[in-house]
Amino acid sequence: SLLVFFVVFILTADYVKNKRPVNFPPGPRMFPIVGNIFSVDRKKMHESITELAQTYGDVYSLRIGQRWMVVINGFEVLKEALITQGDSFADRPDLPLQVDMFQQLGVAFSNGNLWKQQRRFTLSTLKYFGFGKRSLEPSYICAEQVHFSSIYLFNCAGKPFNPHIFLNNIVSNIICLLVFGHRFEYDDEKFKKITKLFEKGLQLEGSIWTQLYDSFPKLMRCLPGPHQTALNIWKNSKNFIHTKVEDHKQNLDPSDPRDYIDCYLNEIQMTKGQADSTFDEDNLVACVLDLFVPGTETTATTLRWAFLYMAKYPEIQEKVQAEIDLVIGLSRQPSMEDRVNMPYTDAVIHEIMRMANIVPLNLPHATSREVQLRGYTIPKGMTVITNLTSVLFDKNEWETPHTFNPGHFLNEEGKFVKRAAFIPFSAGKRVCLGENLARMELFLFFTSFMQHYTFAMPAGVKPVLDYSFGLILPPLDYEICAIPRQK
Ligand code: HEM
Repeated sequence: SLLVFFVVFILTADYVKNKRPVNFPPGPRMFPIVGNIFSVDRKKMHESITELAQTYGDVYSLRIGQRWMVVINGFEVLKEALITQGDSFADRPDLPLQVDMFQQLGVAFSNGNLWKQQRRFTLSTLKYFGFGKRSLEPSYICAEQVHFSSIYLFNCAGKPFNPHIFLNNIVSNIICLLVFGHRFEYDDEKFKKITKLFEKGLQLEGSIWTQLYDSFPKLMRCLPGPHQTALNIWKNSKNFIHTKVEDHKQNLDPSDPRDYIDCYLNEIQMTKGQADSTFDEDNLVACVLDLFVPGTETTATTLRWAFLYMAKYPEIQEKVQAEIDLVIGLSRQPSMEDRVNMPYTDAVIHEIMRMANIVPLNLPHATSREVQLRGYTIPKGMTVITNLTSVLFDKNEWETPHTFNPGHFLNEEGKFVKRAAFIPFSAGKRVCLGENLARMELFLFFTSFMQHYTFAMPAGVKPVLDYSFGLILPPLDYEICAIPRQK
């Protein structure tokens, strides 16, 4: 009877604690304690979440473990939430694992005044380097990385290779140049260690461990498991950045900032004494992480998809190469000015991003106040999933949503057309801070690779366009051949 009493007590406590808020969006049937954990397939969570909208509507609710969340689907409703009511949906939720990893500092996981100040400063500093110091201009940095990539691809000599680490290296070196003021050699032990850390630190996202941690944080903090490894990874990464900040302090010339860290150290000095200033060294380290982590995996993963799509559709690859030959030729590197003259290549890059859908459920948002959306009431502080998958494949927006079709971005005369529903970088107040840099990197790398190499699968192998689910959707590891176009 004690056991029965205990079970009844737990179920009643669960019912009282997790009562559905008033006028809340509907959702699938729940189990006690775990909520809707079985309503979504964890291996393809974004697909399950998109499918549920057909039964419960574009705005519905889920309870994953002990956490309620509202899921928003389809272009029209996402636009209303992220743009029309942007201020009300601009917060990040206090998910325990993210809070323990990043302490709500920096840009990506912070809120309120702290987030506003850090975001504004980081955006304007990236812009400063974009148009100021020639040696740190992103397109110049990309050109330099293209040079190192050519040596790497040349050495592969058309033999099968796995492009994963190579692409992560060239992309994270761009952030190294902007943030630390120097690039690393690819075989530098420190560089290898830090890029591995950044990659591994994300692996837990979207897994059952994240759900357990976010549902039972007090218990999970005491238990061993991969969540402890992830927490340690971020601690080590922050220590590494702290040593870099110390190095910068030794030879800082305030009148001539060399990179992002120098600019930030200057900002700390300039805002000293201002009561509402949030500029300090802990936030500096967090911001540096916010440039490395979202800035590396995303762009490198998109390029990994790009190789696969080109191998899958050789006739599209040939058309891209024909446009490159016509507009750029072989004797010079591509530059951003070429893009306006290359509508087909631009359309192919956009279509790769749409199909690759690399941040399928967006970063989680939260409401900063009580809001009304499509007749429902969403309480303040509610976790909100803005489902980007449902927009990038919205059948009301795309002619052939599930087929690779560069025509989505071309008009009848073959000119490039922007599409409002193209939102892989999200939209509104939290829109990706690195969007311009990422677009530049993707254009310059993609065109340079296609200029000199044809990408094809090794003999007898078919391209597999499948993913492994996480916060970011990478393709399954593969080998590919980069065949030189001219001897
Ligand atoms: C946020 C996508 C590259 C830095 C985001 C978000 C998405 C995204 C979907 C979440 C937006 C939201 O919460 O509504 C991408 C894609 C990329 C890319 C698809 C490349 C193909 C980059 C790069 C950087 C970067 C290169 C850094 C230089 C950030 C930061 C945030 C962010 C700091 C957080 C913004 C905030 O919370 O205010 N990105 N990103 N991203 N991204 Fe990117």
